[in-house]
Order: sequence, then structure tokens, then C-alpha cells
Amino acid sequence: MHPTHPAPAARSGIVVLGIFAADLSFRAPRLPAIGETLIGEAFALGAGGKGSNQAVAAARAGGAVRFVTRIGADAFGDVALRTWREAGVDTRHVARVEGESTGAAFIYVSSLTGDNAIIVVPGAAGALGPADVAAAEPSLREAGLFVTQLEQPLAAVEAGLSAARRHGVPTLLNPAPAPAGGLPDALLALCDHLTPNETEAQALTGVEIRTPDDALRAAQALRARGAGTVVVTLGGQGAVLLDAAQAVLVPAQAGAPVVDTTGAGDAFNGAYAVALVEGRGALEAVRFANAAAGLSVTRHGTAAAMAARAEIDAALARAPAPVVLRGRG
Ligand code: RIB
Repeated sequence: MHPTHPAPAARSGIVVLGIFAADLSFRAPRLPAIGETLIGEAFALGAGGKGSNQAVAAARAGGAVRFVTRIGADAFGDVALRTWREAGVDTRHVARVEGESTGAAFIYVSSLTGDNAIIVVPGAAGALGPADVAAAEPSLREAGLFVTQLEQPLAAVEAGLSAARRHGVPTLLNPAPAPAGGLPDALLALCDHLTPNETEAQALTGVEIRTPDDALRAAQALRARGAGTVVVTLGGQGAVLLDAAQAVLVPAQAGAPVVDTTGAGDAFNGAYAVALVEGRGALEAVRFANAAAGLSVTRHGTAAAMAARAEIDAALARAPAPVVLRGRG
């Protein structure tokens, strides 16, 4: 919206396309049944939306980030702008749309396990399309990485990935939430990095995923369909990385008690993006991202839970060793 931040150094900037959602987060021991009213334990209003969370995570991890989205001219839109200002995310490609609502999400967080269930309504960002990508192209063609997810229309995702490819900019697709109808091979072929969680990898491949070896089989299927480096995140089990050179399990980092897993995938993707533009290889990038995700689950909220660079670096020093898996991409 306003060019208040310095231009990122050539090819080191990260352009993120996605949505913002105001997260209305409810803690309770379980979800209510249909027709039931349940007294919960806590409520919080926070900043969310996968794209925005990833932008904030990347900025807090040290990245120079420009975010492409649409928000409404309402109170939740004000929360979005405040969140990005505090994190240092550049908003020149954020459109504020009169008469539209900013996105919002209902989030149930289990007070027993920290696991979550989400309903998200993209609001104004539900109209993101190729025109928004075209407007951001001056930033995109100078970027070091383009990052997106699947909470906005697929036409916007395709336009972003194609534009990045046209300009020789590496791409990262976090295919979240899981696409009901799968994804076309032509779109997978535009992804230099693909980072599904186990649910998304299963939805994309039909491979039932319980173990790292299952995740490896799904990753092999995705690479066979055209994706580049594939990282399947497995929550508490860690992440499986597959590229032409390696098949590796990077174990999750056990830290303080897990209180809220919401946004852990976004923490992972934001940090992974920063490591890539800093020139780290895929394995080092996954280790860095695991450390960031491991920190985020020890805190409540989503954008508010994203770790700062110094914390990630300190956690990385305690990271468990990767485990080589049998099989190649
Ligand atoms: O990945 C977590 C996010 O998903 C939440 O912040 C919620 O807004 C939904 O977009």
C-alpha cells in the first residue's frame, strides 16, 4: 500500500501471495457436538491467514518480505495493517477494498493436546486474481523467492507461480488447505518447492501417510508429477525432504510443552523461505524451518507465535541430526 520500507537487496526479497484472517481462537477440551453448547476455557482474537502468517514468520526470521493480498476497510483490516507494520512486512501490494470484509477464521484449539480445527472465510481476499499478481509484478521480477498457498482462488495461485517462473524467480507452494479436487500436474510443475503436511500430501497423492516412509512415497509421487523439492511436514515426527540428491527425515525439535499447533506450518514455510533466499541448501533450510516451527507451537496464537531470528538460531544449535531414508526422487 505505502512504500515505507527500503527495497530488498536484488534477488533476496520474498514476495508472498495469500490471505489475512482475523483468528477467533477458542480453547476447550473438545469440539461441541451439533446442537450442543459448550463452555470454553479461553478466547483470543489474533492475526492469522496462512499467507499473512508466512509473511510475518519470514519477516521475523530476517527476510525482506512483500505481501500481496486484499483486505476490507474494517476493524479486522486495521489489525492486519498493525500486524504487518510491527513485523516489518512491506504492504505496497495490499489492496484495501471498501464494502468488503477482511477474512476471518474460527479456530478450535484443544486444551488437552494443542491440536486445532479451523474454518476460514477469506472475505475480500476471496477475490484475489491475476490482476493482483500483475500489479505486484515489479516486485516479483526482482524477488529471490515467490511463496503462496491455497486459501485464495487457484487462478491467483497459478498466475503468481507462472509470473515467477517467467521471471526466473524460484517458487514455493504450500498446498494448504488440502485441495479437494487435487492439483493439476501443470501447476505442480511450476513449483520449485512443495511443502504439504501429511493431510495435504495424502489428498494430493492418495497415499495414506502414517510414517516417514509413507511420506517419502507421497513425495516421490509428487516429484514424478513435476514438483521440484518436496518437503512433507509430519507434525511431531518432523519433516521428510526429497529432492534429486537426498531423501531425509529431519526430526521435529522437542521443546517446551506444546500449547497450540495453529500456524506451525506457516512458521515452517516462512522460515524455510528465508533460509532459501539466504542461499542455504534444502536440508539446511528444513532444519532452520523445523527449529522455527518447534518454537511456534510452544506459544499461543498464530502470527503472534512466530519466532525471532535469534531464537531460531539458538534452537538450531540444539537441533537433532537428520536421518537418511532409503529411496531417491
Ligand atoms: O495455518 C493457520 C491459519 O489457517 C490460521 O491463522 C487461520 O487463519 C487459517 O488461515
